[in-house]
Amino acid sequence: MDKIKIIGGKKLKGKIYISGAKNAALPLICASLLTEDTVTLTNMPMLSDIKAMNALLTQLGTQIDEFNDFVDGHPTKTYSYRTPQATSLTADYDYVRKMRASYYVLGPLLTRYGKCELSLPGGCAIGARPMDIHLSSLEQMGAHIEIKNGYVHASVDGRLKGCKITFRTVSVGATCNLLMAATLAEGTTILENSAMEPEIGDLATLLNDMGAKISGIGTSVLTIEGVEKLHGATHKVIADRIEAGSYAVAAAITRGKIELINAQEWTLSRPLQILKDMGVSIETTPHSIIVDAQDRDLVGKDIMTEPFPGFPTDLQAQFLVLMLTAKGASMVTETIFENRFMHVPELLRMGADINVHGHASAIVRGVEKLSGAQVMATDLRASFALILAGLIAEGTTIVNRVYHLDRGYEKLEEKLKGVGALIERIKESDEE
Ligand code: UD1
Repeated sequence: MDKIKIIGGKKLKGKIYISGAKNAALPLICASLLTEDTVTLTNMPMLSDIKAMNALLTQLGTQIDEFNDFVDGHPTKTYSYRTPQATSLTADYDYVRKMRASYYVLGPLLTRYGKCELSLPGGCAIGARPMDIHLSSLEQMGAHIEIKNGYVHASVDGRLKGCKITFRTVSVGATCNLLMAATLAEGTTILENSAMEPEIGDLATLLNDMGAKISGIGTSVLTIEGVEKLHGATHKVIADRIEAGSYAVAAAITRGKIELINAQEWTLSRPLQILKDMGVSIETTPHSIIVDAQDRDLVGKDIMTEPFPGFPTDLQAQFLVLMLTAKGASMVTETIFENRFMHVPELLRMGADINVHGHASAIVRGVEKLSGAQVMATDLRASFALILAGLIAEGTTIVNRVYHLDRGYEKLEEKLKGVGALIERIKESDEE
């Protein structure tokens, strides 16, 4: 397995192009299953999760074409998806096991074909992550749901029926799945307590461009008037706010200055406010965010993860590492997932001062220095947190299990090298 080697101590300076958002792209790809026409997605990030979703759609009968493209002068991928008729309505264990977002095929297949079989995703490193809200909401729309041999067997007689659904918890996945299912349902569906993450607005925008009738975009109440048919459309994927936030921390933690090209301020207002409160300068231009922490002493700040527009759980690990370089103590509280401090034991091995209380909170105290070590993480964002620790640690840090990073950070080493980091990938074949 590949590893990443970092020699710490460099101030990062320069520009980083922020890629299209993985968490927007995954449901957008699945939205293409709703029509027989072509759906074209531009500004797609080149990530293993996208390849995994493309492999699943290919197995379902989607024809996919890939093009090299440029967005704002930066090389990206464009994919076009066409599913005249699905040849399979089953998402097998082997796909779902590799990527839980495979469950986004459920809403589209069920609403277009009246049937879908989906291997039920298990828990993962950050928590149990059940699918009960997706399933009970589809049942409210008239679906029959049975769980047998590890699979969800979903079917409906005729079309799904529009109704009012109040989600018991704010769920990004359930909101996307139900939004897609409701587009082709009979009658009007109202989704209350919907997630408001920018990726959901991006999905709703594509669906409306395909002929759906969705109102309330950007709010917690989405109203969807079902239509009989959707058509093709072309859509540019929004910039990845989590990637942008991660590199904003890279600038702050190394006391450097990075311009995040294409990053959108409104998608990151809470994390940027935290950075400002800590003493980092944030400047927004029409096409970028400039994060400047040169010659600054930072002070600790408490953070608590919440659904959008609150502080995102996907930036918790990165900000926790940043707090290690700030004066005083900071309390980090995780409210979305039950097991999201798995990076802490690895940081302790590098000299961090962190006390985890139960599963929900951690007290982080500023330390003089971290020292490089061999580390590994159990999930994507925690792996980036270890990269950040490596950027400021004395000596060499080796981050193992790089496949986590390849799921969600496009051209990670190239982007960090471009702003001056001493970082390289050690290929498995380079090792003895
Ligand atoms: C998505 C993101 C993930 C992010 C998370 C929260 C993608 C591909 N993934 O994950 O990166 O960390 O949002 O912003 O976009 N829950 C239930 N029952 C359900 C569904 C969810 O209890 O049926 C719970 C979850 O266990 C969790 C909370 O609701 O505690 C929020 O989860 P959810 O928003 O659904 O996360 P994902 O969509 O899986």
